[in-house]
Amino acid sequence: MTADELRTKYINFFISKGHAQIQGKSLIPDNDPTVLFTTAGMHPLVPYLMGEPHPAGQRLVDYQKCIRTDDIEEVGDWSHLTFFEMLGNWSLGDYFKNESIKMSFEFLTSAQWLAIPVEKLGITVFDGEDGVPRDDESASVWKSLGIPQNRIAYLPRKDNWWGPAGTTGPCGPDTEIFYYVGDKPCGPDCKPGCSCGKWLEIWNNVFMQYNKKADGTYEPLARKCVDTGMGIERTIVTLNNKKSVYDTEIFSALIKEVEKITGVAYDCSDAAPGQSNQAENDKSIRIICDHLRSSVFILGDHKGPSPSNVGAGYILRRLIRRAVRHGRKLGVEGVFLSPLAETIIEQMKGPYPELFENRARITEELCREENKFLETLQKGEHEFEKLLPNLLKDPRKIMSGRLAFKLYDTYGFPIELTEELAAENGMKVNRQEFDEAYKKHQELSRAGSEQIFKGGLGDQGEIATCYHTATHLLHQALRTVLGNHVEQKGSNITAERMRFDFSHNAPMTAEELQKVQTIVNEQIKKDLPVRMEIMGLETAKAAGAIALFGEKYESQVKVYTIGNSASDYFSKEVCGGPHAEHTGKLGKFTIQKEQSSSAGVRRIRAVLEQ
Ligand code: ALA
Repeated sequence: MTADELRTKYINFFISKGHAQIQGKSLIPDNDPTVLFTTAGMHPLVPYLMGEPHPAGQRLVDYQKCIRTDDIEEVGDWSHLTFFEMLGNWSLGDYFKNESIKMSFEFLTSAQWLAIPVEKLGITVFDGEDGVPRDDESASVWKSLGIPQNRIAYLPRKDNWWGPAGTTGPCGPDTEIFYYVGDKPCGPDCKPGCSCGKWLEIWNNVFMQYNKKADGTYEPLARKCVDTGMGIERTIVTLNNKKSVYDTEIFSALIKEVEKITGVAYDCSDAAPGQSNQAENDKSIRIICDHLRSSVFILGDHKGPSPSNVGAGYILRRLIRRAVRHGRKLGVEGVFLSPLAETIIEQMKGPYPELFENRARITEELCREENKFLETLQKGEHEFEKLLPNLLKDPRKIMSGRLAFKLYDTYGFPIELTEELAAENGMKVNRQEFDEAYKKHQELSRAGSEQIFKGGLGDQGEIATCYHTATHLLHQALRTVLGNHVEQKGSNITAERMRFDFSHNAPMTAEELQKVQTIVNEQIKKDLPVRMEIMGLETAKAAGAIALFGEKYESQVKVYTIGNSASDYFSKEVCGGPHAEHTGKLGKFTIQKEQSSSAGVRRIRAVLEQ
């Protein structure tokens, strides 16, 4: 079965069960600033899972492009991908566990659809935890369909609970469907969900019953919903009995092209990287394929950023550069990504016509970023050469990790390349010292873009949350002092400082800056409560909430109000949160710098101190 066939069958099956097919959405989420990318099929549906009626009805089906980069270091093994497609069907207050499970079972096992033998299936259900009871209902539906008791495992929250996609939002217990590829249990405790590698998860049915709030508590959803997700790539590996996602037709054309360009053959090797040169090469080929696929989809998205040093643009930069680096490992010297991108566009333009429409942008941006990175590499190599005479004086032939980190930090020069150059000169890098410096640097920029991607601002601790609230105060203070033409153009928060970009045509005077700072500090002193409400976008705007710069919002949005009451407030903004509960927590606000950011956009750098 091919990915195209699976996609079509899935959609048709659910249409035959009364579902309306809806369009998959952008990879850049509309109203969830807590994550950089759409991470699951349900992500664009959050407002509807929260209660907003969907114009297409209560039964929906779609396929959705997704990106998750929290496991980026794992890419290269058999299954991890940063880009994947997710098939999903939803009930918005319509059917629940019984019908959802029966439909899944029919699609998987019926001869007309996937025809998977029942004995290949294994199921996990929620065992109950924290006041949510064990899901006997789902288990009994599975049993009634012919799944034997020993193929149903009850697992805790860490396994059988899904969501929210960002920091807040819909979530609930799930039942997961596994395909068994083994012939005998790995031990007496081997059961569905066992990590022996023989139970492959292919589908997840989530029973959305709760909304996780910004304060970490759960409230029941007004109506119970079903959200299911089936990863296309994983399911295709499993159904075709392949060892890895890279050994399926999804990657075959691309791998052939990589082989042609690099002159290195892909071997479907089973060996772990490090065990042989071939295995190392295979890993590099896989990384190039995966990272390039993500990059092509980001650049081909109508809201996709260009490579940059912040947010989603930074992730894109990192993906492209990592692909280039692995290309060099395989012996490629010049730019090579664009022709490979063409192969991806050709293969995926049917279900994703935007790739074809944005073809020129995709190839141009790839080329530009590759060239930039090649320059960086040259610069790094040059710097290394300058350091070399001194380095060679060390009798132990060890390059300090701090120096290697400096090359990384200042020139973006990857540690692996420093290690390579060191090795060429008979030296080793003190990797432990580098790792420590790197870790420290990461901790310092905890709320930087990658971290935001990992878990949302809410996971970044109180300091980042306070800075986030400070951006709202600053935004309003700027409007008060400079006028309502001021609009937020971007913000960037680390644990040490905030940066805030806004539209304004002239440098601010010292007096204006002083006024803004005073206003913000006054609001902090008043210790105003920060409240969140969910409301329709139009209602929010009518109530005076600021919505951001050309942002496309869903019809249902979160509004944060800083002030004593609905009528007496200082700031009201549409925002994904999370925020400090009271402004008093913020400490003293100091503007350190005001400068130009780009044409018509100014940038303020400010700090909070306790
Ligand atoms: N939202 C669920 C998932 O991504 C279905 O697994």
